[in-house]
Amino acid sequence: MPTHSNRKRDHIDICLGSDIEHSSRSGFEAYQFIHMALPELNVEDIDMTTNVLGYSINLPIFISGMTGGIDDAVNINGDLSELCSDMNIPFVLGSQRSMLYDQTSSESFTIARKRAPNGLISANIGATEIASKENHKGIYTIIDSISANFLTIHANPLQELFQPEGNTSFSGVLHAIEDFRKRIEIPIIVKEVGSGISLEIAKKLHDVGVDAIDVAGKGGTSWAAVEMKRNQDEYSDYFREWGMPTSYCLLSLREYCEQVGMTLFSSGGIRNIHDIAMSIAMGAQAVGMARPILVAYHTGGILAVKTMLNNLMKDLQRIMFLTGSNNINALSHVRIRTV
Ligand SMILES: Cc1cc2nc3c(=O)[nH]c(=O)nc-3n(C[C@H](O)[C@H](O)[C@H](O)COP(=O)(O)O)c2cc1C
Repeated sequence: MPTHSNRKRDHIDICLGSDIEHSSRSGFEAYQFIHMALPELNVEDIDMTTNVLGYSINLPIFISGMTGGIDDAVNINGDLSELCSDMNIPFVLGSQRSMLYDQTSSESFTIARKRAPNGLISANIGATEIASKENHKGIYTIIDSISANFLTIHANPLQELFQPEGNTSFSGVLHAIEDFRKRIEIPIIVKEVGSGISLEIAKKLHDVGVDAIDVAGKGGTSWAAVEMKRNQDEYSDYFREWGMPTSYCLLSLREYCEQVGMTLFSSGGIRNIHDIAMSIAMGAQAVGMARPILVAYHTGGILAVKTMLNNLMKDLQRIMFLTGSNNINALSHVRIRTV
């Protein structure tokens, strides 16, 4: 049976390779912004700050959960967390499951807080871990160990199905989240990992007290493809492509989330500034990326990630100008059309 650290090592190696993305994209490419020939604003007056879950952030972008529990993750999580803190954007750690069983893996997570004492950092644990009551004490420790600002719970049934060591015990997750909600004060975010979250599930999550949904839809990293690469003897194109595109999830959830005051995040296949700006126009309050950040880090270190984020910031400002949006709230109400 592969260990947690073998698995996390494999995930990084495979995600740095090729042929692990869905064959269709996240759906934003089917939409265009209505161009504003008279923006009626000055580009230097554009404000890209926004509020998420009680915090003001400089840019509606965050780094999604990826790694931890292996030696390499000490540098990755430390560097990314510090950069996010310098830019005042949130950083989500990879699954902290290993900390439930092995405290020696904790440095690769606690480094995030050490390097970013004032950063906005999310703890991360799986839905199947939270379903098991005996883990709850350990999960409080995980949260405390990094003084987490948020708790992200990842729901990944497709990935668990294809993982050689996967845990497919998803009974009782909602009840466990409800129970857990009563005991912690920080906001709880529930995310997928590339198959998306439907309106029906968003409603159930809201009913048990979840504060935010990160749809993490289809169009980028396919976790069935990643796990099938690890598990070479079982390969299915059908499941590799399973899921709902990120744009579809946002359009399905926006009205409900606005109505009940639940925060909506976009991620899954966010690959360029169009995906980011269109996510906001479709109701997302902030937008996350995983694999592109890992690839940039591997290619050019933290400087490459910084350059990438700075370029996205400049291009977001350009889109805001060309759509006549002086702030993020205005961008979330611009008109779009299908191509
Ligand atoms: C190398 C790697 C490891 C990941 N590990 C985790 C994890 O531990 N916990 C989690 O919630 N999501 C994890 N993810 C999933 C991402 O957070 C994200 O939901 C998914 O990859 C889709 O986004 P993308 O298309 O931008 O990669 C991982 C992603 C990558 C690339």
